[in-house]
Amino acid sequence: MNSTENKMERYAILGFPLEHSVSPKIHNRAFNDYGMNAHYGRKAIHPDEFDQVIPRLKKEDWRGFNVTIPFKERILPFLDWIEETAKAIGAVNTIKVENGRWLGFNTDWSGFLRPIQEELPEFRRCLVLGAGGAARAVTFALVKEVKPEVLMIANRTKKRADALANELRKFGTCEIKTATPDSLEKTGVQPFDLIVNTTSVGMGDLKDQLVVEPAHFAHANTLIYDLVYKPPLTLFLQHAQHAGLRTINGFPMLIYQAEEAFKIWTGKPYLPETLKALLQELGLEQGSGG
Ligand SMILES: NC(=O)c1ccc[n+]([C@@H]2O[C@H](COP(=O)([O-])OP(=O)(O)OC[C@H]3O[C@@H](n4cnc5c(N)ncnc54)[C@H](OP(=O)(O)O)[C@@H]3O)[C@@H](O)[C@H]2O)c1
Repeated sequence: MNSTENKMERYAILGFPLEHSVSPKIHNRAFNDYGMNAHYGRKAIHPDEFDQVIPRLKKEDWRGFNVTIPFKERILPFLDWIEETAKAIGAVNTIKVENGRWLGFNTDWSGFLRPIQEELPEFRRCLVLGAGGAARAVTFALVKEVKPEVLMIANRTKKRADALANELRKFGTCEIKTATPDSLEKTGVQPFDLIVNTTSVGMGDLKDQLVVEPAHFAHANTLIYDLVYKPPLTLFLQHAQHAGLRTINGFPMLIYQAEEAFKIWTGKPYLPETLKALLQELGLEQGSGG
């Protein structure tokens, strides 16, 4: 080992609040399994202090960051370069620090696709619930890679769904429609092959709520995908499983987006044993009914 390798590399997640973030557990496991001298911590920043804290952090010795709620968009003006996909999505969740320059990437969209990679050609009709930051990455991934015939975006605030649909139209030729969850039934566009919940409904204080009844918009082979991973089996997935539908929760996406970030920082994928342990430990089986 030479002297530069002896210096511990520092990484962290930026967000607020962060007490429950599992990213340190995921990345420290990967660093540890590789025997790398690196540590990944939490950097909780109060939203009121974000604009002052980031310039200070830029003067310190960091190798990379993940960025989470509520800063994935607010971080953009502080970056020295933004990768094309992240620019198109309008959100950055991964930063690589190279010679003091902060380079921004988005790994949510590819993390979302990886657990369903083999099924992508089957998703001709897709429903995305929500139009927030996660929905931007998910809908971008669908339009660019899945190219469905119809993409329906249903959001409580319809204006936000309309704005997202307008932005997406320049990235593909699929038909993009919008609705509110309440008006979805009236659109007549159903059943869907893939239904994704990208809203925060199902977690925390919203754990007893449901955006829509998944079975109303599904056929027997529809895949119901919930980005929420805490709890691993949301009410949305419980209802889907009760109706005999296949389900997937947000854990695999969480781990795959982390692995993509790890590759950006280190050039290496997670070791197979790291990936296997993470998927098992963090509850892939609990949330997956398919
Ligand atoms: N698995 C993963 O790796 C992963 C990655 C990213 C995000 N996520 C999860 O995705 C979820 C959303 O994150 P985000 O960054 O997109 O948040 P966000 O930008 O704040 O967007 C929140 C979305 O949820 C909707 N919503 C909130 N409360 C609602 C309610 N009571 N009824 C109906 N809709 C409601 C919002 O609708 P309005 O526009 O009407 O407010 C909006 O569409 C979170 O649970 C997050 O943990 C998971």
